[in-house]
Amino acid sequence: MSGTASPRVTLKLATSLDGKIALSNGASQWITGRESRAVVHRMRAAHDAILTGIGTILADDPMLTARPEGGCERQPDVIVMDSQGRTPASAQVFKGGDRAVTLIPHRDLVRAMAGYERVMVEAGAQIAAAAIAADLVDRIEWFRAPVLLGGDGLPVLAALGLETLDKAPIFSRTGVVERGADLQETYERIR
Ligand SMILES: NC(=O)c1ccc[n+]([C@@H]2O[C@H](COP(=O)([O-])OP(=O)(O)OC[C@H]3O[C@@H](n4cnc5c(N)ncnc54)[C@H](OP(=O)(O)O)[C@@H]3O)[C@@H](O)[C@H]2O)c1
Repeated sequence: MSGTASPRVTLKLATSLDGKIALSNGASQWITGRESRAVVHRMRAAHDAILTGIGTILADDPMLTARPEGGCERQPDVIVMDSQGRTPASAQVFKGGDRAVTLIPHRDLVRAMAGYERVMVEAGAQIAAAAIAADLVDRIEWFRAPVLLGGDGLPVLAALGLETLDKAPIFSRTGVVERGADLQETYERIR
């Protein structure tokens, strides 16, 4: 942790081809494949902190460690947006070894990320949308698997509350890489 400027924020999304993160019953893990997951581990290792939400902790109970091939010098810290203190003491996130895990008892993403230089957001639709709506996301890393979950699947972003198209955030695609059967698309924020 260092610095006082706002962090550079990467939003990682792993979805079906039609932009869904889970079935309507919540089943979601492993939509994307092994190659995509290996890249996500390298991405985690390149960030100072991973920010997630209590919705993700309760649904998936992830450990959120960086486990890249060849190992990782330092585990990124974990920031859990959990304004009502619902994170169970038994959550896997507390079992990730030598790193700080901070439970945030408010909803201010800017304050939650303060002090970090590179933050990776790995969360559900609500935190992802809140980060976009607050103009915090500099880059999206979107892993898209060739599977369709349909309109009853959970969308990747919750409501942004846009009233006119000119208010919609716009990104420029700066990379597309095949990851096994999946595609990794990189987008940088331009507006
Ligand atoms: N495919 C992927 O990339 C991926 C990654 C992660 C999760 N998921 C899936 O996402 C689903 C969970 O989605 P989710 O939207 O419920 O979880 P989430 O975005 O991880 O967490 C949402 C919760 O965060 C808390 N929160 C605190 N500050 C907030 C803020 N500023 N804005 C919004 N929420 C804030 C709220 O709970 P309080 O009001 O109690 O604080 C809210 O209910 C699961 O099905 C999971 O499998 C998919």
